[in-house]
Amino acid sequence: MSQRFPDRRGYTVYIVTSTKGGIGKSTVCANLSHALSLRGKRVLCIDCDYSNRALDLLFGCEDRALYNISDIINGICTPADAAVEARRVPDGGALYLIPGPDPGSEIPPPERLSDAVFAAAKALSCDFVMIDTPGVSGGILTAVCRFADRALITVSHGPASVRAAEKTGYLLEAEGVCNQKLVINRFDTGNGIKNGRQGIRSLIENTHIPLIGVVPDSPALERGSEAGLLSTEIRGARKTAGVAFGEIAGRICGERVPLLSFLPAGKRRRLIES
Ligand SMILES: Nc1ncnc2c1ncn2[C@@H]1O[C@H](COP(=O)(O)OP(=O)(O)OP(=O)(O)O)[C@@H](O)[C@H]1O
Ligand SMILES: [Mg+2]
Repeated sequence: MSQRFPDRRGYTVYIVTSTKGGIGKSTVCANLSHALSLRGKRVLCIDCDYSNRALDLLFGCEDRALYNISDIINGICTPADAAVEARRVPDGGALYLIPGPDPGSEIPPPERLSDAVFAAAKALSCDFVMIDTPGVSGGILTAVCRFADRALITVSHGPASVRAAEKTGYLLEAEGVCNQKLVINRFDTGNGIKNGRQGIRSLIENTHIPLIGVVPDSPALERGSEAGLLSTEIRGARKTAGVAFGEIAGRICGERVPLLSFLPAGKRRRLIES
């Protein structure tokens, strides 16, 4: 295991990841960060996808994204200059974004990345830093692992995503990020256990990662995301995916929160036991 930059701060750094592309890492990162901020937490999202930054689009603040994480690392701007207020949040919460680098930017050495992340977290008095990463192993993922405290590994029904989640868990463990939780995303709450798809129980068993939450597949969320809206701001997603992200945020904050609470009790039980 490589040298790690230890936790010495009043905030927690989460890496949202999987070595599989296109399974909802950025969507989970953005919406979960928002859900945490709505619980009164100060949250900084950092887009560390060095191939395809997306969080500025998901938050709908691409016009306000003047600087990015690479600019902080290269001394072009301060963390405060680069941080965009992604949403105004009531009740003491805050939600900031540091956008991802321009395509082709060089992956920084881990210590320079961690210095920039820690400086930003301190400047913004954060409770949580949520880091989005690309769907590949090595490179930036390894760099973030050197200082991340915890990991949220995203998985969906597909067998390739299950295999990738399991592999990601082992990879992160080897890098010292042993506190891992599974986020099942795009879960088909209508046909979750039909058509040979894996249910919640078997997704946990096959990835060997403890579950923190289940986000339903939501076409409304997918459409709304394209317009820079978050789940609680989209009429057709607020009472499903929006609730699910709130459940995960509650669990991260140590609350006892049920899974899939927006479903009727019988269906919930069937899906959870599947
Ligand atoms: N719960 C969901 N319900 C419906 N659509 C979703 C859900 N989560 C993500 N999506 C959609 O899936 C697609 C991929 O999502 P996203 O970009 O978040 O994945 P990613 O893992 O970050 O991808 P990449 O590896 O390219 O960074 C997007 O069109 C997004 O809107
Ligand atoms: Mg992404």
